[in-house]
Amino acid sequence: MTVTSPLLITGGTGTLGRLVVPRLRDAGCNVRILSRRSHESGDGIEFMIGDLATGEGLEAALDGIGTIVHCAGSSKGDEGKARNLVRAASRSGARHLVYISVVGADRIPVVSGLDRTMFGYFASKRAAENVVADSGLPWTTLRATQFHDLMLTVAQQLAKLPVMPVPAGVRYQPIDAGEVAARLVELSLGKPSGLVPDIGGPRVYESTELLRSYLRASHRHRLLMPVRLPGKAARAVRAGANLAPEQAVGHRTWEDFLAERLR
Ligand SMILES: NC(=O)c1ccc[n+]([C@@H]2O[C@H](COP(=O)([O-])OP(=O)(O)OC[C@H]3O[C@@H](n4cnc5c(N)ncnc54)[C@H](OP(=O)(O)O)[C@@H]3O)[C@@H](O)[C@H]2O)c1
Repeated sequence: MTVTSPLLITGGTGTLGRLVVPRLRDAGCNVRILSRRSHESGDGIEFMIGDLATGEGLEAALDGIGTIVHCAGSSKGDEGKARNLVRAASRSGARHLVYISVVGADRIPVVSGLDRTMFGYFASKRAAENVVADSGLPWTTLRATQFHDLMLTVAQQLAKLPVMPVPAGVRYQPIDAGEVAARLVELSLGKPSGLVPDIGGPRVYESTELLRSYLRASHRHRLLMPVRLPGKAARAVRAGANLAPEQAVGHRTWEDFLAERLR
């Protein structure tokens, strides 16, 4: 399918967005990327400067845009970013807003300050989902499990310590960000579909197993120290609220990813 008006990708410079952009180009689409910094445009990719946290630059970035793929995000404040985007997109007459959220956004109760400190990200993704769903714009939201890249970053940080603390009883189902990108592109080129089935990696791992694979692949030796996280949110995560085992549709495993990335 060839789309003539460009699609706007927020977060097109990030881990996921960087993988969405070439797939859209391969599908024959022109792409506009919103970023807080300037980049050189070219080859069907136009960069526009804007900040979703302030709303600055959004009006110009959305001019002539039909479909928005909203991949920008950070550990905090995604609700506000979504609100600013939706406000500007409603004014510009966008026809489809595609949003990437996280598995567990609706199932991890963030009640106490402690919950918020450790799992506030999930609450902010849930709040952003609601902003998208209530926007009045036609929308599609996909929830994904953690990307391999994120798990690797966490493992590398923890490995700086002589003993690696591991959240006891917590499991993960990491997925290849390229596979999430491919699904997002498919959704972006299709009709607005509301909340679509989750996307999860091929296998569920104990957190200790994930870290041991990392240590093996990076030829390191560390002791692992299981730490039991307190609070309701942590309890929900131990019960598997961050997993989508029935949607284990990803193919590339954590071990494959590590073998390639740490080669
Ligand atoms: N990582 C995971 O495991 C995971 C799992 C499920 C869902 N998700 C979701 O997937 C999305 C992408 O994650 P990622 O890991 O690819 O993120 P990332 O690598 O950290 O990239 C973040 C992107 O957001 C943009 N951004 C951040 N704040 C912005 C602002 N105020 N205005 C405009 N752009 C802003 C950045 O653009 P500039 O720096 O160029 O401005 C960057 O391109 C996020 O919504 C995340 O919640 C991630």
